[in-house]
Amino acid sequence: MIPFGKPQVDSKTTDLVSEVINSGLLVHGKYTALFEKKFAERVGSKHAIAVSSCTAGLHLSLFVNNISNGDYVALPAMTHVATAHVVELQNATPIFVDVDINTGNISIKELEKVSKKYPLKAIIPVHYLGLPCEMKEINDLAKLHNALVIEDCALALDGQYDNKKAGNLGHLGSFSFYPVKHLTSIEGGMVTTNNDKFANLIKKTRAFGYNKELGQRSRPGIYDVDLLGFNYRMNEVEAAVGLTQLEKLDNMQLKRKNNFESLSKNIQDINSLKTFPSVYNNSKSSHYCFNIVVKKEANFSRDELQDFLKDNGIGTSIHYPSSVPLFSYYSSKYGYKKGDFPNSDYFGNNTISLPIAPHVKVEDINYISEKLHQFVSSK
Ligand SMILES: Cc1ncc(COP(=O)(O)O)c(C=O)c1O
Repeated sequence: MIPFGKPQVDSKTTDLVSEVINSGLLVHGKYTALFEKKFAERVGSKHAIAVSSCTAGLHLSLFVNNISNGDYVALPAMTHVATAHVVELQNATPIFVDVDINTGNISIKELEKVSKKYPLKAIIPVHYLGLPCEMKEINDLAKLHNALVIEDCALALDGQYDNKKAGNLGHLGSFSFYPVKHLTSIEGGMVTTNNDKFANLIKKTRAFGYNKELGQRSRPGIYDVDLLGFNYRMNEVEAAVGLTQLEKLDNMQLKRKNNFESLSKNIQDINSLKTFPSVYNNSKSSHYCFNIVVKKEANFSRDELQDFLKDNGIGTSIHYPSSVPLFSYYSSKYGYKKGDFPNSDYFGNNTISLPIAPHVKVEDINYISEKLHQFVSSK
């Protein structure tokens, strides 16, 4: 079996985790601070603030900017539901935008249209599968409307736009360290920003709105609370796992890139499958996974192909199983229907994500390519 994802955990990680657990200091410690410092260096942002998940980071980014009831937030219709849920949690209104058929990223043409209809308070571009969005156009549009840009970088660690890294391309960015992501901290996330005010507010609101962090308190246990806040902290065990992952990230990223490029080359002759680019205009992908989309003219369905791959020991995933507006919560609340976001619906119904993470070997890539050829020629 070739699983879709497999965290690369070794004895360095387990040794450090035991050390942290035995130290007795499980939150508020030096590993979270060190992980933040090293992550900011990697992304090239002034600040990195560790949080409990990417969702928490996106939520805090909206929260500290008071985006709430009556505000409109634009986001792609094809994304993980977390991107939309954080808008709902703030009682703001999500304005879904269809995606570009070439990249799966938010369509600039469609975004321009909605920006004329709604006074947007924020835009959340999602770097689909790790390929950065067309950020110049998005930032220009945001400036025009005085809107905030929050990058959803869940799948975009080390993705680049104009030689700048994702997480450094808008006002704020949020990353995910869920187990099968580029880098894991078990669960976890990181907010990046170059804005001191946002960084300070996020640090406070991730921890109840305390005015002083543990190390800043003159008397133990004494603090004031001058803000509303959450418990969205990362713990020391998670930070230690993340740190050991950062040390080997270059090597892991190279494997993903090589796997992506080999698979792309091996299956380029299969006309019934659409693939996604590694490089597109000014963007370079982070190669999170390798998506194929069953073309309309194909004489087989996505589910048939996914079953075949499973029967042959190839694990897959789907990014994502539906456009967000067609999930029951959103369609019943807002009345969306099939066809409102045609490209997003098309990806939701026809795409499969293939494994290319560091556990996937060259011979696995050859095996996956061979099985795809075998399947399409049997049809
Ligand atoms: C685009 C996108 N945003 C947000 C998330 C949520 O990430 P987390 O599980 O770290 O909250 C995911 C999860 O896969 C995602 O794909």
